[in-house]
Amino acid sequence: MSTISSVPQRTGCLWTVFGLRFHLAKLVFDHPTPIMMSKTSFALNNGLAIPAVGLGTWQSKPNEVNEAVKYALQNGYRHIDTALNYGNEKEVGEGIRASGVPREEIWVTTKLDNPWHKRVAEGFAKSMSDLDIGYIDLFLMHFPCSTDPEDSTKHLPDWDYVKTWQEMQKLLDMGKVKAIGVSNFQVRHLEKLLADPSCKVVPAVNQIELHPSNQSPKLLEFCSSKGIHCTAYSCLGGTAGSAINNSGTLLEEQAIVEVATAKGKTPQQVVLMWGLQRGTSIIPKSITPSRIAQNFELDGWALTSEEADKISGVTTRFKVVGDSWMPIKVFFGDDE
Ligand SMILES: NC(=O)c1ccc[n+]([C@@H]2O[C@H](COP(=O)([O-])OP(=O)(O)OC[C@H]3O[C@@H](n4cnc5c(N)ncnc54)[C@H](OP(=O)(O)O)[C@@H]3O)[C@@H](O)[C@H]2O)c1
Repeated sequence: MSTISSVPQRTGCLWTVFGLRFHLAKLVFDHPTPIMMSKTSFALNNGLAIPAVGLGTWQSKPNEVNEAVKYALQNGYRHIDTALNYGNEKEVGEGIRASGVPREEIWVTTKLDNPWHKRVAEGFAKSMSDLDIGYIDLFLMHFPCSTDPEDSTKHLPDWDYVKTWQEMQKLLDMGKVKAIGVSNFQVRHLEKLLADPSCKVVPAVNQIELHPSNQSPKLLEFCSSKGIHCTAYSCLGGTAGSAINNSGTLLEEQAIVEVATAKGKTPQQVVLMWGLQRGTSIIPKSITPSRIAQNFELDGWALTSEEADKISGVTTRFKVVGDSWMPIKVFFGDDE
């Protein structure tokens, strides 16, 4: 178990290829032969490595997500992202088992839902039971928000995310989860958590919304300085046409289209590569086989630093996930 005192502080992003670790930016921009992005992983602060490319499953409909998971795993993916809140862990587990890929080759992330903050062990047990895959690789606190299970409009008066983390730390001793982390944590949440004497384990991962229209540079830098790896969610800009995605036009941004055209890639692929080259793992969601395959075609090419900068120059700003449905504010607009 990694503790605050024993975790080495990392200032740069480490990238693991065939067991060797490199500084990502140096590797990508200085290496004459582009690396196999789909096969690589990022080193975590507990000695494990998270596969760089995963399949997202939020809003994947029943009877679709099991097939999507199975297809992804049979076509090279080794990382699946789900959550109790998505209501699809049973189907995700079915897809994993049906894939025929050995369990130990797969990284599975799931998340504790807000109404379960005071019942961490039970929430974890429910995910374990629904997934039915023996163990969980990464268990995240979905939001820093402890919702009253009886009334979702109320925050629990006597319970916040620091207490939830205390309970999550205990899960590591049970041997059924390899790493614990957080999601949707802003700098102020992490500062409070890490400063609390009860915090013995630095979160391995902070899973946050990251795409060219929500780049969060301060949060990324803060996490890097504390040895916390970031996974980018809604890394394609979210589900186009969904009521909660107020843009849907990210992939039509001129800069992104120009880079994609120059590379002979799709706008989705260059946005995914941009995320990887920032040192974040990515978890694009799709239930469409051709798109699942396309999103994994990230080998043998890379963005030049000029191309990456051009995508970073996108000025349109939007967020896919907000906090208006939660009883407390989680996002503050200071780095989103
Ligand atoms: N921690 C959190 O709070 C949190 C919040 C949001 C998301 N997440 C995770 O992050 C994952 C990804 O985020 P997201 O689901 O918001 O959105 P996303 O991955 O940015 O975008 C998904 C949308 O893009 C479409 N798509 C995927 N690949 C495509 C391609 N190559 N060409 C054209 N369209 C493509 C999908 O359509 P089809 O499926 O129809 O193909 C879907 O509509 C989620 O599924 C979830 O696992 C976590």
